[in-house]
Amino acid sequence: STSDGADRYEITQREATLEVLPGISTPMWTYGGTFPGPTIESRRGRPVIVTHHNELPVPTVVHLHGGRTPPAHDGYPTDLVLPAAWSGHGQHARSHGMADARAVVTDTRRAYEFPLDQRATMLWYHDHRMDFTAPAIWCGLAGLHVVRDDVEDALDLPRGDHEVPMMIADRAFDADGRLAYPALDPTLTGEPGVTGAYLAGVLGDVILVNGAPWPVHEVDTGVYRLRVLNGSNARHYELEAVAENGRPLPLIQIGADQGLLAAPVRHERLPVAPAERYDVLIDFGGVPVGSRVRLANRLGTGRTADVMQFHVVRRGARARIPDTLADDLPEWSRSRATVTRDLAFRAGRMNGRHGWLIDGRPFDPGRTDITTRLGDIEIWRLVADVHHPIHLHLVGFRVLSRGGAAPLPHDAGLKDTISLRPGESAEIITRFDGYRGRYLFHCHNAEHEDMGMMANLEIV
Ligand code: C2O
Ligand code: CU
Ligand code: CU
Repeated sequence: STSDGADRYEITQREATLEVLPGISTPMWTYGGTFPGPTIESRRGRPVIVTHHNELPVPTVVHLHGGRTPPAHDGYPTDLVLPAAWSGHGQHARSHGMADARAVVTDTRRAYEFPLDQRATMLWYHDHRMDFTAPAIWCGLAGLHVVRDDVEDALDLPRGDHEVPMMIADRAFDADGRLAYPALDPTLTGEPGVTGAYLAGVLGDVILVNGAPWPVHEVDTGVYRLRVLNGSNARHYELEAVAENGRPLPLIQIGADQGLLAAPVRHERLPVAPAERYDVLIDFGGVPVGSRVRLANRLGTGRTADVMQFHVVRRGARARIPDTLADDLPEWSRSRATVTRDLAFRAGRMNGRHGWLIDGRPFDPGRTDITTRLGDIEIWRLVADVHHPIHLHLVGFRVLSRGGAAPLPHDAGLKDTISLRPGESAEIITRFDGYRGRYLFHCHNAEHEDMGMMANLEIV
């Protein structure tokens, strides 16, 4: 914290060998030597400056997902932080094919400024380099960023060790403990360098929570606040909490990607797509001390059907679950929308190869796909061929409809990522406010994003 009112952090991006699986060493790319990177905690409206130093062997880009960030600090995919090892060696940049290679590489660190003038919620930061986001995240470049505010404080939600931020992410490991990533294995498609597994998105058979495989978390019989992020590249989950007697414990959703709901929504099963966050209360009050609650993934098979366990080890204080939460959710009505757009998220051919496209086109950083006016309310009608979690930078949105019908229970609240199921359409509504400039929207299946399913939005 400094006298100009900004909180400052320094993060060194570097290689580190971590013990992810017990007794086995895994080389990873990290923010500050850990996976996930350090969790940053902020107050609404208090700016944060995070200086990233790149000591990795590759260029990087940092994006704060869900942040209301000016465009210069939003982590545009070609806005690179170059490796420190390249300092003073322009030929490195040129030999890596970078369009605007400098004669001398100096930008090996970058201070990202985040105003964080936004509702309290859990954001996450991750790499966003063009065509290389998926492998960079897979190798470990992801971390959590919690924003708090007075509205949330007044609700007296579970805090301290009763609040559990959870980055759920799958990974695959080879026999030596290295992260296995199939992108360079041409076995399945016949297209050099691209496998079928890569096309659909890369899945792992090990489920990590905060970097640990299938952890067991000790709890008491009180109420816990689970702040869930699906940080997986491509895996979808359907979470269910099941006690030893087979009885499901309700997952009481209190928040979405962009903060608190108006009122809690109870789920027996909660679908969580890549990049989505769900803020959930779980009450262990009826669970016998000494027994376990399994957090299962109903979409998984074999060991991917398990996420983690809660071991109830002692009695805890009773806690109140509020009936109402936030009253500051934007209520944008259809009649106030000035523009309606149709956007199709579908596979297609690009340069003779398979690509994931938006309206038939792959991402081009030099092209403006949509121009919108600051302050305008727009309705976007999205349609998908296969499962695509669609994410907008800068703004939160409400879900107006799904599949021509009412939104589903987990569509409640203010979101920044919507999971479109195969063949499904949905309408979202938002107001483009905050900053003018160039922003992105894209599929958050990280491999789909790298294979073109991303576009530019210019706010003027
Ligand atoms: Cu989480 Cu553009 O990304
Ligand atoms: Cu984002
Ligand atoms: Cu996709």
